[in-house]
Amino acid sequence: GRANDLGIPGVPMTRTRFLGTGIALPERVVTNDDLSQLMDTSDEWIKTRTGIRERRWVVPGETGTGLALKATRSALDIAGLGADDLDAIVYATSTPDHSAPGNGVYLQHLLGAGPIPALDIRTQCSGFVYALSVADGWIRSGLFRRVLVVGAEIQSTALDVSTAGRDTAVIFADGAGAVVLGPTDDDAGILAFDLHGDGAYAEKLWVDAPGSMHHPRMSHGQIDAGRHFLRMDGKEVFRHAVVRMPESVRAVLGKTGHTPADLKLLIAHQANLRIAEVIQRSLELRDDQVYNNIMWYGNTTAATIPIALDECVRAGRLARGDLIALTAFGSGFLWRSAALRW
Ligand code: COA
Repeated sequence: GRANDLGIPGVPMTRTRFLGTGIALPERVVTNDDLSQLMDTSDEWIKTRTGIRERRWVVPGETGTGLALKATRSALDIAGLGADDLDAIVYATSTPDHSAPGNGVYLQHLLGAGPIPALDIRTQCSGFVYALSVADGWIRSGLFRRVLVVGAEIQSTALDVSTAGRDTAVIFADGAGAVVLGPTDDDAGILAFDLHGDGAYAEKLWVDAPGSMHHPRMSHGQIDAGRHFLRMDGKEVFRHAVVRMPESVRAVLGKTGHTPADLKLLIAHQANLRIAEVIQRSLELRDDQVYNNIMWYGNTTAATIPIALDECVRAGRLARGDLIALTAFGSGFLWRSAALRW
């Protein structure tokens, strides 16, 4: 046996491994030219500032839990498990189907899983890494064995698609990713997390209404004022994101005795391709050490990392034992990273 986290010799260490990954994206492709029909923008502006070429937006009838169900089935297939094998669900989304209850229980029901616990995580862009840290704690403590972690988002219905909302409307999009996690005693698995938040910036990227501080919680006045739309101070988000993500990647790798040069792959939250490029330069990573797909999907908030991870798995970019880092930054502000061996 090895020393466990508490340094107790002879006690075998349980770690959390990825058993399967899956994704689901709406079929409807929305190009930059499509957006130019709705608002004063251009393919050139969007590509230059964000790297995005197209994204997926749902059509009425497609839901977050519907996409999550598809992604989960695919992840369970890869894991060789059924819904009955799951012990718990952690569902990261800032855009649930309804205000309450959260999406976790809807997914549990759609899956036909047993009466297992389901926890919704509302930490926006960094929701998936936060959800992973919760699932990892549950698995390593022995509370649950097989945990489903979902990052899924429907942002398109929260966007102002007129010229007034063009700064956010061209960036955010819809999609879902799911991973099935389980315990392992070998060298693979999640090694460390680095988690931070600073609420001083809460209103730099937020949705004001509906909210319980408003009387009434939801009103025609709010809607007329567009307070139900996602609002962002893009420059402020950019400025913090390019500092916090590299800092956090160095910190989480430091906890494992590694540096960025040791990475097989960094998957950074797909907020904006320009942000991803600054992170890559700042960590001095080669092109083959990073993965970006924002060009095709836009920013799907909590779903960007599990979608990217699944694409890397399916493309054969990850081999057993590879050192990987995940990092995210977003609304809160909240930022967090994970280091793992595949
Ligand atoms: N199409 C055309 N013009 C647009 C536009 C769009 N979609 N969105 C904004 N503009 C205009 C602005 O109105 C402004 O016009 P003005 O100079 O006449 O006032 C001009 O473009 C420049 O706007 P500005 O906000 O200064 O641009 P920017 O260089 O900061 O780029 C972002 C804007 C949003 C691309 C950039 O700030 C950014 O990427 N921020 C990070 C966003 C992010 O990653 N969010 C997710 C975090 S999880």
